[in-house]
Amino acid sequence: MTVRLPDDCEQLLLVRDRAARATALICVHDTRLGPAHGGIRRWAYRSSDEALADVVALARAMTFKCALAEVPAGGGKAVLIDHDGLDRRGAYELVGRTVERLEGRFFTGPDVNTTADDLDVVAEQTRFVATGRDDGGSGGPGDLAAATAQGVFAAMRALCRELATEPAGLHVVVQGLGAVGMDLVRRLHAANARVSVHDVIASRVDQAVRQYGATALPESDVLTTPCDVFAPCALGSVLTRDVVDQLPARGVCGAANNIFAGEAAALRCHERGIVAVPDFIANAGALIAGATFHLRGERVDAARIDRVGETAAAVLQRAAAERRPPSELALELARERVERGPAQV
Ligand code: NAI
Repeated sequence: MTVRLPDDCEQLLLVRDRAARATALICVHDTRLGPAHGGIRRWAYRSSDEALADVVALARAMTFKCALAEVPAGGGKAVLIDHDGLDRRGAYELVGRTVERLEGRFFTGPDVNTTADDLDVVAEQTRFVATGRDDGGSGGPGDLAAATAQGVFAAMRALCRELATEPAGLHVVVQGLGAVGMDLVRRLHAANARVSVHDVIASRVDQAVRQYGATALPESDVLTTPCDVFAPCALGSVLTRDVVDQLPARGVCGAANNIFAGEAAALRCHERGIVAVPDFIANAGALIAGATFHLRGERVDAARIDRVGETAAAVLQRAAAERRPPSELALELARERVERGPAQV
């Protein structure tokens, strides 16, 4: 593997703990607006190259997410390469030690497959981590996944306005019922939306059906079931060009990062008249909550998270007026903010 620092990245750390059989990568993408923020993803990457590409793409998205969320922070990410023989505790200790070495240039938290218990292990090694535990007191930033779900829901309301509809009666297909997806289903149910769901873990589907009256979909129907809004809350790159060609939805709004597998897919979505809320706008809730706690030592209030909806509305309206894909406009606005520097944020 040849490691080359991508032109737009500030720092890349590739570290290994032999005893734990753990390899981790940390990317600090851009700190011009403030210290880099980004969670830890543990994933069974097929190769180190694949892990490298992912950590850079995710860190880059965090930079843009911070800029548009008006959070004085930059983008970063950590990934751990998962495999059968991994010593999970040792692996998270490795990440914690590496984060501590960065002395506050990178602040981390949860992401896919990283639990509150894992983050407690990281917190044994470094101060620069939000564990996401909601202890009911002021000892942390609160429930970060719930903050993300609140933001996605606020963005979905903005999308509804753009589609000239409202959450009541809306049919939403939610892919992935983890910490964010399940809470989103709860909110949609409370707003009288109709929800169809799929998760690879059957017990989660059962819970959504039982508690929130959701309809279970087989995996083969997730991307082909007609709906108003498709909400990807599992993993990124679900919307390939081919998928978008067939997607029977009017809008897309979910928590997953980098939902489009390339620009061609985003463009095709726009051509088909499907309104997609840029993922890095919709899923900024955890970042806003985590960064507010880390940078200001206080818990975020609900109104601040709901501003995700205002940002989404502004971008969707302007993109429609300019007949451009919202993701293209959002990236342009984010890059402008980063270039202008912290005074503007
Ligand atoms: P999670 O790990 O708690 O849940 C992911 C869920 O997706 C799991 O239930 C898993 O079984 C399911 N899943 C995996 N592959 C699937 C497939 N092919 N089809 C259907 N379901 C599948 O993750 P979490 O925290 O709920 O995050 C969801 C997404 O949102 C992730 O992409 C994450 O990167 C993103 N995100 C999460 C944030 C947070 O605050 N937790 C913040 C920003 C983004």
